Amino acid sequence: MTASGRKVCFMTGASGKLGSEIALSVAGQGYTVFFTWHHGEEKAGETLERLRWVSPESAMVQCDISKPSEIAAAFGRFRELYERLDLLVAGASNFYPTRLPEVTETDWDSLVDTNLKGTFFTMQEAAGIMQKQPFMSRIITMTDISAGLVWKNYAPYTVSKAGIQHLTKIFAREFAPRILVNSVAPGTISMYPGREEEPEEKLIEKIPLHKTGDPLDIVRTILFLMESEYITGEVINVDGGRMLF
Ligand SMILES: NC(=O)c1ccc[n+]([C@@H]2O[C@H](COP(=O)([O-])OP(=O)(O)OC[C@H]3O[C@@H](n4cnc5c(N)ncnc54)[C@H](OP(=O)(O)O)[C@@H]3O)[C@@H](O)[C@H]2O)c1
Repeated sequence: MTASGRKVCFMTGASGKLGSEIALSVAGQGYTVFFTWHHGEEKAGETLERLRWVSPESAMVQCDISKPSEIAAAFGRFRELYERLDLLVAGASNFYPTRLPEVTETDWDSLVDTNLKGTFFTMQEAAGIMQKQPFMSRIITMTDISAGLVWKNYAPYTVSKAGIQHLTKIFAREFAPRILVNSVAPGTISMYPGREEEPEEKLIEKIPLHKTGDPLDIVRTILFLMESEYITGEVINVDGGRMLF
C-alpha cells in the first residue's frame, strides 16, 4: 500500500483519450495511479491534476515505451515512490494507417516497437515486481478487435495488437497463479470520430447491437477484470458483437 493505504496501479497511455478515462476510473476504485506519458504533456498534466483529487499520491513520468531503457527508468522511479504494484494497465499505443505497398521500416518500427515491444518490456518489468509479492496482482493489456480481423491499410498496427493478445496468454500461463493477465479489445468506440475509414452508418450495419461503444463500456470491463479472481489469459472483445460477422 502507499502511505495512504491505497493499492497501486502502473499505467501506460493514461494521457490518451480512452486511457485518461481508464486511469480516473481506476483511481476511483481506491488506487494510486503512476502513469507514463510520451508527447502529450498537457493532457498528461490535466489527467494528473484530476487524478490527484481522488488519489493524491498519483504521479507521472515521461517515457518512450518503444525504448526498453526508458521503461526500466520509469519502473526505477516507480520503485522509489511505491512499495507495491497491484495492477498494470498497458494502454500506450501508436495508431495510424499504413498502405501495405508503402509501409516503411520507420512505420513498422514506430508502430510495432511502441505497441508490441513496448508492451512486452512493460509487462516484463511489472511481472518482475508482482511475482515477488505475497498477494494476487493483475495485468490488463489494451488491444483491439482488429487483431482478429483482416483490416486493409493497418498491417503493422493490427499485427502488433495480435502480438499483444498472444503475449497476454503467454504471461498468463507463465505467472499463474500469482498474476492474472487479460486483455481488453475495444471495437468502435464513439470517442473516435474519423478513426475508421467507413462512415458511421456503414459501421453500425456490421455491429449486431446497432451502435458504437461508449468509453464507459471499456471502463466497466476493466473494473470487472480488476475484481475477477478466476479469469486469466482471456481477451475480452467489447464490440457490440462486431466479431460475430
Ligand atoms: N479508443 C478507441 O476507440 C480504441 C479502439 C481500439 C483499441 N483501443 C486501444 O485502447 C488503448 C487506449 O486508447 P486511447 O484512445 O487512449 O489511445 P490514444 O488516445 O491514441 O492515446 C495513446 C496513448 O499512448 C501513448 N503513447 C503513444 N506512443 C507512445 C510511446 N512511444 N511511448 C509512451 N507512450 C506512448 C500516448 O502518450 P502521449 O499522448 O503522451 O504521447 C497516449 O497516452 C490503446 O491501446 C488503443 O489501441 C482504443
